[in-house]
Amino acid sequence: MRAAVVTAFGTPPTCQDFPVPEPATKDEVLVDVVAAGLHPRVRSQADGSHYTEKGELPLVPGIDGVGRAPDGTLRYFVLPDTTMGAMAERTVVDLRRSVVLPDDADPVLVAAGMNPAMSAWVALRRRIDFAAGQDVLVLGATGNAGRLAVQVAKHLGAGRVFAAGRNPERLAALPADRALTLDDVGEAADVDVVLDYLWGPPTADALREIVTHRADRGRPLTWVEIGSVAGRTTELPSAALRAARLQLVGSGQGSVPTRDIVAELQSLVAELGAFRIDARTVPLADVETAWKETGDQRLVVTP
Ligand SMILES: NC(=O)c1ccc[n+]([C@@H]2O[C@H](COP(=O)([O-])OP(=O)(O)OC[C@H]3O[C@@H](n4cnc5c(N)ncnc54)[C@H](OP(=O)(O)O)[C@@H]3O)[C@@H](O)[C@H]2O)c1
Repeated sequence: MRAAVVTAFGTPPTCQDFPVPEPATKDEVLVDVVAAGLHPRVRSQADGSHYTEKGELPLVPGIDGVGRAPDGTLRYFVLPDTTMGAMAERTVVDLRRSVVLPDDADPVLVAAGMNPAMSAWVALRRRIDFAAGQDVLVLGATGNAGRLAVQVAKHLGAGRVFAAGRNPERLAALPADRALTLDDVGEAADVDVVLDYLWGPPTADALREIVTHRADRGRPLTWVEIGSVAGRTTELPSAALRAARLQLVGSGQGSVPTRDIVAELQSLVAELGAFRIDARTVPLADVETAWKETGDQRLVVTP
């Protein structure tokens, strides 16, 4: 079969012949892959930088996707940490980590949207005690995950949703109650929850602004670290942790148990049609070129 294959970390995968994998347990099946998203997590898998990486090569990238199972069902699946990923004509799927898609689901939009939408969905439903009516700030709202976080927060009953980012044009297009540049984050000082996709210097600045301008510093503030597009580390102002009732947590693979993530697949797949997802397909044969592309649409590789 043909597959995207990484043979050296730091170089893009190329489309090559690759052995067809074999199911190893009674829960595993071989699926015909229909679509697999090129998420930041997949890029970090392929360049060896993700915190779950063990350095094994060669590897076929792709952490999730949509595939046709032997019984004919079309399924969204999430793969375990494996070198046999989703960017191939076929892959092995554990049925317990997959859900059958609704009849009207678009496989490309599902492959594009589940990973970024899950980031806020799982954070709000599984990582923190989020209550309807609470106000949410999405820090870094212009990427695929941030744009979906704005929609997911509203969908799950948030009161006001503030969207903050560095790109005013993209911010203006979001269905947020308030769009803020990173310099104006202090105007969201009284939110209950921050969904943080940035980290790095913008997070340190935002923390300082929010704590400084918060009307009631005794009011709980839950800051959820989800992404790190602006830096892997940040300088946390110590005073911010002392001066406000701030709880800092992370949400992702590990801090949310796999069983909790898998348990949310069904509910999110059922609701995914409610969200706007921006996707563009690229054929598997062009995966090497696709790897070098940037843009605001989520690329989806189709065999
Ligand atoms: N923990 C989880 O469960 C989980 C799940 C999915 C994703 N994530 C993480 O979330 C992050 C975003 O993922 P994504 O899918 O949205 O990626 P994406 O679609 O590539 O979007 C990233 C966006 O971040 C913005 N950006 C980059 N550098 C910035 C900076 N210095 N300041 C402000 N904005 C900046 C850019 O938008 P502009 O050019 O418009 O500014 C870019 O489009 C990644 O770190 C990803 O690994 C985590």
